[in-house]
Amino acid sequence: MATDGAELLGNGLVADYIPALKHIPTSGQRKAKKLIKDFFNLIDNELQEHREQYKGGEPKDLVEMLFHARQEIINEGTDDISMVTETHIRQTVADIFSAGSDTTILTMHWSIGTLIEFPEVQEKVAEEVDRVVGRGRLPGISDRDSLPYTVAALYEVMSSLYFIFGTGGYLIPKDTWVLVNLYSMHFDETLWDEPQKFNPQHFLDDSGEVRLHPEGFLPFSTGRRVCLGESVAKAELFLLFAWLFQHYRFSKAPGFENTNYAEGLGLATGNMPQDYPVVVEKRF
Ligand code: HEM
Repeated sequence: MATDGAELLGNGLVADYIPALKHIPTSGQRKAKKLIKDFFNLIDNELQEHREQYKGGEPKDLVEMLFHARQEIINEGTDDISMVTETHIRQTVADIFSAGSDTTILTMHWSIGTLIEFPEVQEKVAEEVDRVVGRGRLPGISDRDSLPYTVAALYEVMSSLYFIFGTGGYLIPKDTWVLVNLYSMHFDETLWDEPQKFNPQHFLDDSGEVRLHPEGFLPFSTGRRVCLGESVAKAELFLLFAWLFQHYRFSKAPGFENTNYAEGLGLATGNMPQDYPVVVEKRF
């Protein structure tokens, strides 16, 4: 379901380009509606199962945490219950799975797909993780400041993959759809030195520290609709990225040429890579 959704919405619906057409039920729109319906049915079934199983006490997962928070507010007898209604719980779970998981999976697909193209970058990441973390434990979030090259390589992957997001900054008539062209920002020659070259150095300053908020890097968008999960996403992407290249060496499968974008013009959360074959070796 996730792949179908990413493909369908990533390629865009006709109404993304001509909003007036949103009232015409094209086949893309029908498919999108069905996917959303199936997705919410899945969430509702999960919630129902959790409701039957969770009898209070220490919560074991996100849904139980939300039930627990709701119960605590009820027990306290405060008015805050309107903050955690059943609708909030349903929507929060849906947000985490839709906004929160595909984006991360896509970034990991691209991280591997890109670093097989740049084995020297992959080697430097692995070497930095070996040196700072060693091989006896997994990288933790407290290692992040000590792994600037690893973080810079991850941000460089992100800056080369996200294309277009909606947001604004000008006086624009009500209900206008605004799409920010992240491509032009992430590849702007006035902001980046040789932006077309994949080079983690773009995200390091002269003293080797990570440039956390360089002008012209907005993968999480900005303004009122900025990504709510930005700090969680940065933390989990860092952990997954560092862990992957700590444990595995990825290289191109024989005969495979280049990792490329899947066909279609993406208007949603970025562009899908085409499926690519990859050789995976355990590093130790
Ligand atoms: C690679 C990781 C991620 C990227 C690149 C990303 C990017 C974005 C962007 C660009 C937007 C704004 C879309 C727009 O302009 O309309 C957004 C919205 C959002 N993101 Fe993320 N996101 C990521 C991960 C996450 C995670 C892990 C969560 C939750 C745990 C999350 C939750 C949300 C939510 C709830 C919104 C909607 C905010 C609103 O409309 O007020 N995202 N994300």
